[in-house]
Amino acid sequence: MSVKCRNCNFELIEVVDFGKMPISNAFLDRSDFSNEYFYNMTATVCKNCYLFQLLEQPDPKMLFHENYAFFAGTSNSMQKHFSELSDELFNKYQLKKDDLVVEIGCNDGGVISYLKDKNHFAHLGVDPSKNVYEKSKEKGINMMNKFFDINTSNEIVKEKSKAKIFISLNTLAHISNINSVFEGIESLLNDDGVFISEDPYLFDVLEKVSYDQIYDEHVFIFSVTSMNNLCNKYGLNLYDLKYLNTHGGSMRYYVSKNKSLPKTNNFNYFFNKEKNIHSEGMRCYDNFNLNCIKSKTNLTNFLNEQSNKKVIASYGATSKSTTIFNYCNINTNQIKYITDTTPTKINKFSPGTHIPIYDYDYFTNNKPDICFLGAWNHSNEIFIKEKNNFSLNGKWMTHTPDAMFINDF
Ligand code: TYD
Repeated sequence: MSVKCRNCNFELIEVVDFGKMPISNAFLDRSDFSNEYFYNMTATVCKNCYLFQLLEQPDPKMLFHENYAFFAGTSNSMQKHFSELSDELFNKYQLKKDDLVVEIGCNDGGVISYLKDKNHFAHLGVDPSKNVYEKSKEKGINMMNKFFDINTSNEIVKEKSKAKIFISLNTLAHISNINSVFEGIESLLNDDGVFISEDPYLFDVLEKVSYDQIYDEHVFIFSVTSMNNLCNKYGLNLYDLKYLNTHGGSMRYYVSKNKSLPKTNNFNYFFNKEKNIHSEGMRCYDNFNLNCIKSKTNLTNFLNEQSNKKVIASYGATSKSTTIFNYCNINTNQIKYITDTTPTKINKFSPGTHIPIYDYDYFTNNKPDICFLGAWNHSNEIFIKEKNNFSLNGKWMTHTPDAMFINDF
C-alpha cells in the first residue's frame, strides 16, 4: 500500500479491509438504487505518528451537504451534554462578554446555542452542511456555512477577532485536511486560548470491537498519542483529558496555546497507557482485525439463525449500522425494517443493503420479536423511553463485541 499518512506523510499499515461501502448517511429512494455510489473502505494506521485513518475517503461534498441527515437536536442526551459543556466554559474559563467562542460542526445548534441562550453573543458556528446551518440561523445563532480550514480561520480573524475558545465535538475526526485545520486553530486562538475537542476514542473502538465507528465521515479515529503528535507539530499543548461515555467511549482533549501549562495526571495516565500498548508494536491493530472478522461471522450466524423464526427490526438508522450491515452482508433477509425518528430518513432505504426505514408509529404498531440496537450509542436514552412506552414482545440485541441478547433491558 503506497498511500501516505495525512499528517506526517509516513507509510500507512492496513488494519481492516471492510470491502465495498456506500455513503453511510446516504439514505435513498428505490429509484436511486441503480446509481448508488460505493468506495473501498480500508482502515489503516500510520507507523510513525499512530494516526488511525481511512485509506480512502469519498469527496467531503458527498458527505456534508444541503441534505445532511443528522440533526443533533433529535438526541436529548447530546443536548444535555452540550448544555453541560457550555456551563463549564463559563465556570472554568471565566468567559467575558467579548471572548469569541468558535464551534465547528455545530450542526443545528451545538454548544454555542446554549451560549446564545445565556446571552453570550460573541460566538460563531461554522458548518458546511446547508440544512443544519439554516436551522441554526433560524435559532438566532451566528453562523458561517463553510468547511473550516486556514482560509476560514483567517476570514474569522479579519471579520471578527481571535478566539478564546475553539470547540469541535465529533467534528475533527470528519475532516481529512487535518494540517490546514490545525494551522487554522493555531492562528485563530488567542495567546491564552483553549481548544476543546472530543471524538470517539480509538482504544475503546479497538477494545470493544466497535468497528462500526469506522465509516466515511470518520476519516480519523484519534488516540491520545496521535492527538498529542498533531498538537506538538502545531506548537499547541495537549495538557488535559476527560474520558466520556458518549458514543461508546470518547475522549475530550483540552489543548492550550500556552505551552507552559503543566500536563495533568489524567493526561499522563492515558499517554503512558498507550505508550505501553505501542511498545508491543502493531499487535493491538492485528488483534482488532482478527476480532472484526470474528464479530462478523458471529453476527451473521446469529441473525441467520434467529431470522428463520423471528421478525427482527433495527432501532436507529445510523451511519454505524451502514458499516455493520454492509460489512456483514445483512439485508431484508435478516432485518425486516429499521425504525428512526429523523424525518429525512423515514420512508427511505438504508445505504447499500436497502432495508426500508419506517417511522416510530410503524414500530409501535409492528413490534418485532427482536430489536437490533443500531443506535447503541443512545442505548440509555432509548431504554428509558421504551421501558415507559411499551415492552417489546421479544428481546433487544447488540452486535458488539459478540452478537447477543441484552438481558438487563
Ligand atoms: P447517530 O447518533 O448520529 O449515529 P451515527 O453517527 O452512527 O449516524 O444516529 C442516531 C440515530 O438514531 C438518529 O437517526 C436518530 C435515531 N434515534 C431514534 O430514532 N430514536 C431515538 O430515541 C434516538 C435516541 C435516536
